[in-house]
Amino acid sequence: MSVQIAIDGPSGAGKSTMAKMLSKELGFLYLDTGAMYRSFALYAIKKGVKIEGWSEDAPELIGLLDSFSLDIQYIDDVQHMIVNGEDYTGEIRTPEVSLGASKVSAVPAVRLKLVEIQREIASRQNVVMDGRDIGSYVLPNATLKIFLCASVEDRARRRYEELKLKGDKDSTYEEVLADMKLRDENDSKRSFAPLVCTEDAVRLDTTGNEIEETIAIIKNIVAERI
Ligand code: DC
Repeated sequence: MSVQIAIDGPSGAGKSTMAKMLSKELGFLYLDTGAMYRSFALYAIKKGVKIEGWSEDAPELIGLLDSFSLDIQYIDDVQHMIVNGEDYTGEIRTPEVSLGASKVSAVPAVRLKLVEIQREIASRQNVVMDGRDIGSYVLPNATLKIFLCASVEDRARRRYEELKLKGDKDSTYEEVLADMKLRDENDSKRSFAPLVCTEDAVRLDTTGNEIEETIAIIKNIVAERI
């Protein structure tokens, strides 16, 4: 059986940084599952479906699933999201798509389609997968489950600094914080596969930690368990 490492936690907890580092160290595939929900959200936006009306049983979203074809390719170690032949990778990190992804991910039919792809990928190779429900729902028998968390203020500060480094001149810290609280609420309160820390996961609170400290802790856990 393939080795599966699940890294879950709320937005901005450092999951993708840790997952990328680990996958490189171990020579495993890295699958960013959030990018899959983001790609479907962007597909719906491009089809003209207004985010405001999206709900858990939104028929206009479910109706788009059949025509949504996702191909995940790795180019120079970067995960590319190809939707119906179009590369969405550069467009899925905007605040609008972030909010949309948090909403589409509450729709059970959307989750079922994307989870099927995630499980299929994990069945044929060693993976480090990050998301919200990897240890609790997608890969309940994962070899190692890590749950990363940090205070919402700390996560918002990190995300704000990241945005500024990327040249964002408009967003304020207060906006990033409000957006993160809203996404936390959407992700943990949805009825199907919400964000939870399972009993068998290693829970790591990284509030106040530098990235290097968290990397060192995770490397130790992996050395003991894998
Ligand atoms: O990790 P991210 O910020 O790129 O995720 C985007 C949204 O997708 C986030 O609001 C939660 C959702 N998501 C999810 O519900 N389940 C996953 N396995 C991954 C992401």
